Amino acid sequence: MQILNRLEEARSLDGVAEKLQAVVTAVAKPRRLRDLLHGTYVGHAVHPVLVQLPVGAFMSAAVLDLVPGAHKAATTLIGVGTAATAPAVAAGWVDWSQLTKDRQRVGLVHAAANAVAITLYGASLVARLRGGSGRALSYTGLTVAGLGAYLGGHLSYARGAGVSHAATELTRVPSAWTSVGPLAELPTGKPVVRTVGDVPVLLWRDGDQVTAMIERCSHAGGPLGEGEVTAEGCVVCPWHGSTFRLRDGVVVHGPASANQPLLRVRVTGGDVEVAQP
Ligand code: FES
Repeated sequence: MQILNRLEEARSLDGVAEKLQAVVTAVAKPRRLRDLLHGTYVGHAVHPVLVQLPVGAFMSAAVLDLVPGAHKAATTLIGVGTAATAPAVAAGWVDWSQLTKDRQRVGLVHAAANAVAITLYGASLVARLRGGSGRALSYTGLTVAGLGAYLGGHLSYARGAGVSHAATELTRVPSAWTSVGPLAELPTGKPVVRTVGDVPVLLWRDGDQVTAMIERCSHAGGPLGEGEVTAEGCVVCPWHGSTFRLRDGVVVHGPASANQPLLRVRVTGGDVEVAQP
């Protein structure tokens, strides 16, 4: 953990990170491509899903390399696994480009470890196709990939990269109906922020219909209440541009991949009340 803490504070990596970020931004310029790679169309990050194929293929190859007569099958799996890294790498870099600096530093070492692992697997594949064993190279690759996976797990589970930052807010909303003020005081077509318990909530009124969503952006907790509202009835996060439909919280553009959670809403005696779903 001390090594990880030092890595997160290693400002010497920032120069490389800035150059790589510029490259990723230039290469993944089309917004639809970025949304696809962030997982905006499927509701959560796709990088962890895409790594399953190479990881599964490499792990299976490692087992088959211990089985007499299964060398050819192991070679096939290493070929499949190596080819399958391409989409996982693309999604990983696009997600990485929208992380905070401390997490980008860890992400850089995660990517470097995986690049070394892929190179070792590629070399193993070439050695195998030339009639050699290639086992030492692939087992070394698996070990280095394990280090990369450990850092990736740290980024997600300890540092919250790729998880919804709005979901935890929802758990702090009172489950009892709580007033957020008179309906008559809510402007139409202009979102307002009210606090429920200690959770900021974004209210959007359309006629007599009111939508209440968690105000902290699911991507990294940006303040949607300070975002611009588009002509299509969406709010754009001021931090990284994630775009959410105000009437139902659906994510329209990333880097967010999760929708904004909605609260239950009712109007009682002219008062708008909200509650945890
Ligand atoms: S916090 Fe990153 S887009 Fe909202």
